[in-house]
Amino acid sequence: MTTKGKKGYFGEYGGSFVPQALQIRLDELEKAYDEAKSDPSFKEEFMSLLKEYVGRPSALTECKNISHYFGGGRLFLKREDLNHTGAHKINNAIGQALLAKRMGKTELIAETGAGMHGTASATVAALMGMKCTVYMGALDVARQAPNVARMKVLGTEVIAVEDGQKALKEAVDAALKAFAENPETFYLLGSAVGPHPYPTIVRDFQSIIGKEARSQFIEREQNLPDYAVACVGGGSNAIGLFAGFLNDREVKIVGVEPAGKGLATGEHAATLSAGHPSVIHGFKSYVLSDDQGEPAEVYSISAGLDYPGVGPEHAYLKDSGRVSYTSVTDQEAINAFKLLSRKEGIIPALESSHALAYAFKLLPTLSKDQTVLVNLSGRGDKDMDTILPLIE
Ligand SMILES: Cc1ncc(COP(=O)(O)O)c(C=O)c1O
Repeated sequence: MTTKGKKGYFGEYGGSFVPQALQIRLDELEKAYDEAKSDPSFKEEFMSLLKEYVGRPSALTECKNISHYFGGGRLFLKREDLNHTGAHKINNAIGQALLAKRMGKTELIAETGAGMHGTASATVAALMGMKCTVYMGALDVARQAPNVARMKVLGTEVIAVEDGQKALKEAVDAALKAFAENPETFYLLGSAVGPHPYPTIVRDFQSIIGKEARSQFIEREQNLPDYAVACVGGGSNAIGLFAGFLNDREVKIVGVEPAGKGLATGEHAATLSAGHPSVIHGFKSYVLSDDQGEPAEVYSISAGLDYPGVGPEHAYLKDSGRVSYTSVTDQEAINAFKLLSRKEGIIPALESSHALAYAFKLLPTLSKDQTVLVNLSGRGDKDMDTILPLIE
């Protein structure tokens, strides 16, 4: 299955709705990416850094204790938490930094929510000798302090954004503004969102997750998984996993959004479950909007998931019916965080715990020969301050 259509569109979603000055910069980026894609040395350098610096391929782990606990299907994890810097974000950060280098840029700008993309950007900036500035909502600076410390140690300037809800949307606003104002900079966008060509670039760099997972699963089980599941914030870890399985019709694919305090309370960030088509940050997708049509205030316990938009390819995949999107609450994610930690000795990120929570509901309904593959997008070290008061 392909989601290609009009350039930069996935069905009716995607595109580029930006001022002309910014469009010129995006056109340059698109041209550079098209050239890089057809240059074997670019792919070679990307793949060699993924292997030798990130530590890929990341493991595929079967969780036998969890499967035994629920007494139903078998659970497998794609271990993006084991990557250098602790999440899937580094895959895309390396790809885009190589692109920046190719374009002769020496200054990176990034936004971050949970701080994992900010840390990945700070890391590649150090590796490649570039200056890096990360915009982060002031609320997120407070709730993801370990990652703020890591960025500073790596030599990156972290700018706390005090506008609006002081979270991911405002960080993207500030990063886009800084990028537009300074032609010397490269905007290293951290999720499969934004104007064309970002959703395609991020999907391509993250698709290593799905490619590896598919071949690892076949090698181990001589079969495909029955389910492939990932959490959806902007949608980069999910589209990276899903890309490997979209053509395998027998694999059911599920994206899990943050239902926060419950969809009925309005305090959530379940964009595909409760939003409507609109434009946000220069692209068309599902958006959670308020009465004035502005992006709504959103909420999730997880700093990496509280964004009122979602990647346009996910909007297309929802409408086409190929992928199902559902949501789980904060409490369900916290329970999953605790259960995986205690039963398997693996501490997941709060973001990834949303995908786990859905899998934990699914497993007891399956037979013993059915399999669920969850993308464990990151590790939970950064979430200790949030989680400790909530678990005994
Ligand atoms: C570990 C982890 N998983 C998932 C996400 C959500 O982002 P995306 O939907 O782009 O994968 C984040 C964002 O910060 C993250 O840190």
